[in-house]
Amino acid sequence: VEPAPSAAVPQAGVPGLVLLRRIGVVDPESLDDYRAHGGYAALRQALRLGPAGVIREVVESGLVGRGGAAFPTGRKWEATARQPASPHYLVCNADESEPGTFKDRVLMEGDPFSVIEAMTIAAYATGAEKGYLYIRGEYPRALSRLENAIARARGRNLLGRDILGSGFDFDVEIRRGAGAYICGEETAVFNSIEGRRGEPRSKPPFPVERGLFGRPTTINNVETLVNVLPIMLMGGPAYARIGTGGSTGPKLFCVSGTVSRPGVYELPFGATLRDLLELSGGVAEGREIRAVLLGGAAGAFVRGDELDIPLTFEGARAAGATLGSGVVLVLDDTVDLASILVRIAAFFRDESCGQCAPCRVGTVRQEEALRRLAGGSASRRTELRVLRDVGAAMRDASICGLGQTAWNAVESAIDRLGVFAAPTTDTTEEAR
Ligand code: NAI
Ligand code: SF4
Repeated sequence: VEPAPSAAVPQAGVPGLVLLRRIGVVDPESLDDYRAHGGYAALRQALRLGPAGVIREVVESGLVGRGGAAFPTGRKWEATARQPASPHYLVCNADESEPGTFKDRVLMEGDPFSVIEAMTIAAYATGAEKGYLYIRGEYPRALSRLENAIARARGRNLLGRDILGSGFDFDVEIRRGAGAYICGEETAVFNSIEGRRGEPRSKPPFPVERGLFGRPTTINNVETLVNVLPIMLMGGPAYARIGTGGSTGPKLFCVSGTVSRPGVYELPFGATLRDLLELSGGVAEGREIRAVLLGGAAGAFVRGDELDIPLTFEGARAAGATLGSGVVLVLDDTVDLASILVRIAAFFRDESCGQCAPCRVGTVRQEEALRRLAGGSASRRTELRVLRDVGAAMRDASICGLGQTAWNAVESAIDRLGVFAAPTTDTTEEAR
């Protein structure tokens, strides 16, 4: 057993885990070992339930998307399944590119058969015979593990024609991204698979109606799909009893920054940020937590005195934050927050696809204003006004989530953490 992802999974081997239970335990290259650890029992159960039964369990589980947007998975599957147009497609979005997000990588490297089994169940439920797994190009180990898993599953009639004698045909093709963050946006994924420029399309129409090759398409994140396995095995209602009423099930969190044990952690929804930070060892002795970035570059900062925020979608929302894809970037009091904001802004400027003006121009203006502020040479009042105006334009008028969220983290740092606030003793013109 190669314990490759274990370093990134401090809980590896701990009893009671749901999503990480096989990580560091199972041989990720062996189908026999996967089956010996419960693999493919969920597909057998799905075939017993039938497509409508699978969807019913997923709806009852309350599962929502783990890519960041938390859309109800059962509703998405139902919507694709009822589309009369054919063929239907299934896409697994494995282009995990949100800075600070590495949970899907751990699943794909450490338990690749689970991703393929879950895709097979999703395809069965939504009426797809062809699936694409769109993987971030920077994940070569995950790629080779998945290629191996697909080949072995085909060899045992777990992919291909008449899977396990059920009459259901399904196969998976892998496509690699080439380093563009925007190619993780779902409609940019479709363009990229189709051989076009990786630019987002306007929504609606949503993919469930017109997605890949203009056909009804279910697109789900890796972690979302992997959750379907325990739902099949324990049933939707039992799964829904994990977590809270508004956020059901287990969740993976990617803890990074100035903590002593960074890595991917699994907790049921409802644990607090403090619980998670205790699990990951907290910050070094003598240091204090200055801020935590929740949800990644598209998310929001919270202060070190707000650690009792419940890690649920509704709890984060009520606190003016977001869980997004599960990023928890911890920054202690040694970190220069202004330089972090400049890096976030530079990232968005770099990764904007340039298709629409609010984002193409706004991300440049945002970075410029932040550099002037961080350099200390600017009029605070003027630059903060520029940032707010540009931020509002990006949020209101951008085509896709990149532009719509490019101002989120910066805004929260200014409003919540007081970054760039004028010192009270400062009586200069720029402070006024
Ligand atoms: P979205 O809210 O537009 O859509 C979420 C999902 O629900 C999509 O699959 C969409 O097609 C579906 N949907 C929405 N309304 C629907 C309707 N009426 N009928 C059928 N389906 C519907 O969000 P989007 O832009 O897809 O994702 C934004 C999120 O992505 C952000 O929250 C961000 O955290 C996250 N993100 C994650 C990254 C990662 O690496 N995991 C990278 C960048 C962003
Ligand atoms: Fe491209 Fe930005 Fe417009 Fe999205 S918001 S389509 S990334 S320019």
